[in-house]
Amino acid sequence: MCGIVGYIGPRRAEGVLLDGLRRLEYRGYDSAGVAVLDSGDVAVVKAAGRVQDLADRLSRRPLKGKSGIAHTRWATHGEPNDVNAHPHVDCGSSIALVHNGIIENHGALRRRLEEHGHAFRSETDSEVLVHLIEEYATGDRPFEEALVRALKDAVGTFGIAVMSLKEPEVIYGAKRGSPLVVGLGNRRDEFFIASDPAALLAYTREVIYPDDDEVVRLSVEGVETFSLDRVPQEKSVESISWSLDEIERGRFPHFMLKEIFEQPEVVVNAVRGRLDAENGMAVLGGLRDVEERLRGVERLTVVACGSACLAGAIGEYMLEEYAEIPTEVELASEFRYRKPVLDPRREAVIAVSQSGETADTIGALREAREKGVLTLGVVNAVGSTIARETDAGVFIHAGPEIAVASTKAFLAQVTVMALLAVFLGRQRRMSRVMGGRICREILALPEKIGRILEQNDRIRSVAEKYAHYSSALYLGRKYNAPVALEGALKLKEIAYIHAEGYAAGEMKHGPIALLDSSFPVMAVATRDSVFEKMKSNIEEVRARRAPVLALATEGDEEMYRLADDVIYVPKTLEMLSPILNVIPFQIFAYHAAVARGFDPDKPRNLAKSVTVE
Ligand code: AGP
Repeated sequence: MCGIVGYIGPRRAEGVLLDGLRRLEYRGYDSAGVAVLDSGDVAVVKAAGRVQDLADRLSRRPLKGKSGIAHTRWATHGEPNDVNAHPHVDCGSSIALVHNGIIENHGALRRRLEEHGHAFRSETDSEVLVHLIEEYATGDRPFEEALVRALKDAVGTFGIAVMSLKEPEVIYGAKRGSPLVVGLGNRRDEFFIASDPAALLAYTREVIYPDDDEVVRLSVEGVETFSLDRVPQEKSVESISWSLDEIERGRFPHFMLKEIFEQPEVVVNAVRGRLDAENGMAVLGGLRDVEERLRGVERLTVVACGSACLAGAIGEYMLEEYAEIPTEVELASEFRYRKPVLDPRREAVIAVSQSGETADTIGALREAREKGVLTLGVVNAVGSTIARETDAGVFIHAGPEIAVASTKAFLAQVTVMALLAVFLGRQRRMSRVMGGRICREILALPEKIGRILEQNDRIRSVAEKYAHYSSALYLGRKYNAPVALEGALKLKEIAYIHAEGYAAGEMKHGPIALLDSSFPVMAVATRDSVFEKMKSNIEEVRARRAPVLALATEGDEEMYRLADDVIYVPKTLEMLSPILNVIPFQIFAYHAAVARGFDPDKPRNLAKSVTVE
């Protein structure tokens, strides 16, 4: 998820662009850049880091032009640095482009363009687009025609702004699957384009929203919209009523709730281009260089902290059941100090981390590397320390996670662990049929997640009913034992309720002594291989008069008899059930925190990335 901005009009573009980028930093903030048409040239200034780093660089080299485009990046392909930052330019430095999205066929297009002599500067998928336009913008062919031809070749998602010396008084935009909005200056002598209205609000509330596979042409004469077949499209002008705060959080009161609601799209992005259901394969390009070494791996260790460690714990069940590889998940903070015994000939270590900068996980990774073990990363932040120091890995593509409490990144981590289980399983004994079944069920998850999100209001009323308790016990078994711990962690870290997560089979070995009518129990009791055991646990809890909130599978009416409150989730494969079952607990914790008067986005004592030990 990145932020793009474009401007054309009477003002100096640089100031408008920087202001817009600052409003979009929540969409991505690892590098930024601007391109301005300045005295007959495309002047480009880029910088790794935050928008302020770019502004500092511009202060030493101000750009005077009155039309330009800009970008703040959340890297998906290629490390965050000056070269990979957008805008990207063509070989002749006469076209500049900024892009938000993922070009899935960037590899094939890049090879074709390189064969035609194009010289690439960056590792990004986005740069392919600008060279593709250049490829078609030959001779006196109208730039517009070259642009639409290039966009027709692209597979994947894009929200772009592009400008060319061929038409110096014009900025083009186009979208497919990524957001794009055009702002109409109040005097209609200036026009804006951006990833979302946050970047425009200081200048106008009058906007038009292009649809997928539409192109917009901004010039001082006005805005035209047309299809990829260059058929003009009539667009209505809409007025933005949102406040800036609302726009940044997408009308959600907190980023945490916004990110919970992004989860259907997050699963789509985590598996985009990676599932071959027909052949029952997971296609993980980030493992290509170590694919043969992975065939010989006979033991896996997963190292991580917090929610990432719990995602790894779910992965442990997946990898053992479906790849049949002995797997242990370990707290990174313990692993790194306990002198682990590792055999580099037959073992691999997987580091799971949203930020890629967690000190303990980095320490554990370095411990593994010192022993010569193959290391893999399951990371969100491209270019982060863990992403750079692992031998290979799989990015989770969850986009920036602003809320301190991890939700969408956790879900994407679990989803990628499932892809890993298929990938490694199909290297071993997993059948094509089983692989295909898992792939198809993963593809069905976004719709099922949506059905859970529709229960937000109901889950809020349940959360408000339990918010006054000072303790809670979360119970789950097998794949859902880590879900119980993650649900408890969420309630601890944002509602400050002392919640314990436990493998339900352990309840009789101590925790049951805690239970009475003042100690509610949240039980994951969805239909799976351990359902009957969970049912018995709930009956044992009821016998101690503890209130019970149960997660149950849609249609399981029996649970109403057993529990005080029931939240239903759709049926899925047992190995994928944590991806659905964790969501009610995320929503529950969020509303419990709000009911108790706390800010879920900024929980006390916590940081988004624990970069110290
Ligand atoms: C989860 O809600 C917490 N914010 C925390 O446990 C987090 O998962 C942990 O600090 C690991 O962070 P990482 O994924 O960036 O390594």
